[in-house]
Amino acid sequence: MTEIIWGLGTSHVPSIGAAMDNEKAQDEYWKPLFDGYAPAREWMAENTPDVAVIIYNDHANALGLEMIPTFAIGTDDHFNVADEGYGPRKVPNVRGHAEMSEHILVQLVNDGFDMTVCQELDVDHGLTVPLSVYCPEPGEQWPCQVIPILVNVLQYPQPTAQRCLALGEALGRAIRSFPGDLKVAVFGTGGMSHQLSGARAGLINEKFDREFLRDIKENPERLAALTREDYIREAGSEGLEMIMWLIMRGAIGDDIERVHETYHVPASNTAAALTLFAPVTAS
Ligand code: DHB
Ligand code: FE
Repeated sequence: MTEIIWGLGTSHVPSIGAAMDNEKAQDEYWKPLFDGYAPAREWMAENTPDVAVIIYNDHANALGLEMIPTFAIGTDDHFNVADEGYGPRKVPNVRGHAEMSEHILVQLVNDGFDMTVCQELDVDHGLTVPLSVYCPEPGEQWPCQVIPILVNVLQYPQPTAQRCLALGEALGRAIRSFPGDLKVAVFGTGGMSHQLSGARAGLINEKFDREFLRDIKENPERLAALTREDYIREAGSEGLEMIMWLIMRGAIGDDIERVHETYHVPASNTAAALTLFAPVTAS
C-alpha cells in the first residue's frame, strides 16, 4: 500500500536557499535558523520518501499573470530549476513521477477538484527552497522524485483555506490509492507572516504564527474557517501562503504526532517556521 510517511510545513524564503548555495548557513545571521532545522533534517534523512508531493506557489516565474490557475499539478517526469533573474540555483533539476501524478490528477478531478495540468514547468524558489530545507546536500540528484502541486496565492480571488483543506483530504485519498508500496512525503510551503511591499511591508505577527503552528495540528478546521482577508490582515499579503500548509495537513490526516517544530524571525522579511508531522503508527 502506498503510504504518507511524513508531512512538512516550511517557509520558502529565497534567501534561505541563497544562504545554503553561497555557504553562509553558518554565518551569525543564518546559524540560528539552520540550527533549528537540524533535528528535523536528521529525522527526515532517516525516513527517505520515494516521492515528495510539494504544494507550493509559483512567483510569476513559470506562470505569468496571463494565466492564473487556482490549483495545478505538474505531470512531467522532469522539471528544470527556474531562472528567477540571477540564473538558476545550482541545485539538481527535479525528477518527476509522471505515472503517479497522472493517477493523482485523475483521482482529484473525479473527486471534484478540476486541476490545471502543467505538462512542462520550471520550478522556482517556492519548491526548490523547501527541497533544500529537507535535504541540504543533495549531491548529483535529489533523494526523491517530486510531484508539484501549485496554488494561486498571488492574485485575487485566491482559493479559500477551507477549499485547501478539502483538496488536501482528496489528495491524501489519491496518494494512498496509488498501486504499489511507495513511501510519500507531503510538503506544505510558504509563510509564515510576511508582507514584501506596500505600507505594511515588513509586517510580522508572531502571535498569529504561533497559534497557526499550534492549530495546524490541533484544530485545522479553525484555520480553514479563516477568510483570505483574515490571513492577509493578520499575516500580511504574502502570509496568505500559509493556506498551502492546510493542503499538507488535509493529506496526512488526523492521526499524527509532531516530530519537530522551529520558528525564527527574521529570515529576510519573513517569519520562518518548520513543522514536521508523522502518522502515529500502531505498535
Ligand atoms: C521573501 C519571502 C517569500 O515567501 C518570497 O516568495 C520571496 C521573498 C522574503 O522574505 O524575502
Ligand atoms: Fe513566497
